Amino acid sequence: MFMFNWLSRNEAERIIASPNGYIECRFSLKSGEISYSVSKNMKTIIKPSRLGFDICGEEPLGSNLKIIREQKKRHAETIEMPWGEDKYLKNNYNETAFYLSEKKSPFRIFTFRIRVFDDGVAFRYEVPPQPKFSQITIKDEKTEFNIDNNSNAWMIPAYQPDRYEYNYEKKAVGDIKQPVHTPLTIRTPNGFYLSIHEAALYNYGSMTIVLNQNRILKSDITPLSDGTKAHLNLPFQTPWRLIMIADSAIELTTDRLIYVLNDPPTGDFSWVKTLKFIGIWWAMYVGEWTWAPGDRHGATTEHAKQYIDAAVRLGISGVLIEGWNDGWEGDWLENGVNNKFSVSTPDFDLDEVASYARAKKIEIVGHHETVGFIDNYENQLEEAYNYYASKGVHYIKTGYAGSKMMINGRREYHHSQLGVNHYQKTIELAAKKHICLDIHEPIKGTGIERTWPNLLSREGARGQEYEGGALVPSHACFLPFTRLLSGGMDYTSGIFDLSNNVKRISTTLARQLAYYITIYSGMQMAADRPQFYEEKFPEVFEFIRNVPTSFEKTLPLAGEIGEYYVVARKDVNSSDWYIGGVTNEHSKRISLGLEFLDSGAYEATIYMDSDEAHYRDNPFKIIIENKRVGKDDFLDINMAPGGGFAIQLQRLQ
Ligand code: NOJ
Ligand code: CA
Repeated sequence: MFMFNWLSRNEAERIIASPNGYIECRFSLKSGEISYSVSKNMKTIIKPSRLGFDICGEEPLGSNLKIIREQKKRHAETIEMPWGEDKYLKNNYNETAFYLSEKKSPFRIFTFRIRVFDDGVAFRYEVPPQPKFSQITIKDEKTEFNIDNNSNAWMIPAYQPDRYEYNYEKKAVGDIKQPVHTPLTIRTPNGFYLSIHEAALYNYGSMTIVLNQNRILKSDITPLSDGTKAHLNLPFQTPWRLIMIADSAIELTTDRLIYVLNDPPTGDFSWVKTLKFIGIWWAMYVGEWTWAPGDRHGATTEHAKQYIDAAVRLGISGVLIEGWNDGWEGDWLENGVNNKFSVSTPDFDLDEVASYARAKKIEIVGHHETVGFIDNYENQLEEAYNYYASKGVHYIKTGYAGSKMMINGRREYHHSQLGVNHYQKTIELAAKKHICLDIHEPIKGTGIERTWPNLLSREGARGQEYEGGALVPSHACFLPFTRLLSGGMDYTSGIFDLSNNVKRISTTLARQLAYYITIYSGMQMAADRPQFYEEKFPEVFEFIRNVPTSFEKTLPLAGEIGEYYVVARKDVNSSDWYIGGVTNEHSKRISLGLEFLDSGAYEATIYMDSDEAHYRDNPFKIIIENKRVGKDDFLDINMAPGGGFAIQLQRLQ
């Protein structure tokens, strides 16, 4: 339904309510300036907050404004996702687009569009072509999120050498001293849980958040090396600025607005398939093999064939091979500028490996470590993707190690406009070649996998590669409430070699299974070496073999930020359910109600920590139990310090 209002207005105050009426976004135009505020159940969430831009070489955009037209829309639709945590998503909102014009020369015009959902508010700026200017350079985006300074925030710092790979920290909003990344999770003193984030990030610097001199949270768009934020041709639209809103921490984890704010795919993506894979990978982390050629080179033809055979025996569909390409020598962070993406080391024959894999029906996951040398990578991009495609490789893991990227001969942030555009180039080219991507050191997720389903996963947070000292048990209890609000993550789960002295793991064995449920990824790795699955713990591996990589629905059941998290997911291809849970360094017992099951009987296989288990000195103590259960049952679950549990519920006929 469309409604037009053609009266031009110099002052205005409008309320856009969510479909259920609980959330209200108030838009106002006063003295030529626009602002917004947000409330739920009449309680303030965001106080009046400024909007607009500073533009290089021109007057700021956002003052001397009048409304020339307002357009309202109601929208209700169910979206079907090709893969993911939920097959069906609701896209129900009320929208108003405010068409604005300056009252004096140069009479620039733009649209401010607001959508209000039952679980959040989103808005964006849209600047159409106009007579007096066709290009602009953004100096600053002034969007504010004026949230009570006494709110708690869970954050990771922005503009740091390890990109998003940091431990989460909790602070009062008023104590935020440095720019932080989104999604930024916040709890307000009046009890709301929020996540400030963005959706559909294209051709623009990514939004970080700062506390400005007026002690108001404000967008801080990642700068380019020339100090500006984005160079744009008209028309352009910003990403959606998104405020997810929930009444509890666990409810926040059900928010899927990033996806519905993105466009549906154009073109056929029916060839995209989620994947579980093992890989020539952890052996390098524990020092058994090396990425670089030499006596202990990991990516040899022989090792690759052994891993392909192991994948067949384990019932896993893919094998990742890292370190096969020419250039990975010596100081690889420096030398990465010489990486060749279509030339193998002498001991690796991709033709032979690929035809071996094809015969065994195993997918190869290729690898491109760019080390952030984008100029080098983009020069080879088309050739490198063609090379893999011609060998029947349909999956590539890419990597962008290094603190900044090298683009056009200059050092740029990974999350700057140029970084964003590079990642997008790889996604679009991969789509053309029917290749799926798992991007490490990526740009954060903003839901674009809705439009580009071949983007099956990304890293973009501290993952298991940081085990061996830098990962704390609470980390995996922060992720569902923070990073994972921006989509799936390749956490490289499933390490069973928990007592290795080179990389000491700070989890129990049962918790390694829990990750397959608590940390969703369209490409899930079984990250340890095959012998740890086949010889040491075959009955524990059974869970990894069975766990799906795509779900019909996800039901977060319980949790508190940084403390614990329990979630149930229903397989997209069967009537089976899977449940996973993790706790921080404190043990936790729960009575797990199964009321969400359909009626009928299920065979439950429960993998949980025994009473003596402890992540520090007794990680292997696992209980594996089978039980017949139904929806009226409760299960007593134990999670050890640094532990967790996983349950497979197979529907009995
Ligand atoms: C960091 C990635 O996260 C990791 O998975 C990869 O093995 C190394 N870079 C080397 O490319
Ligand atoms: Ca990484």
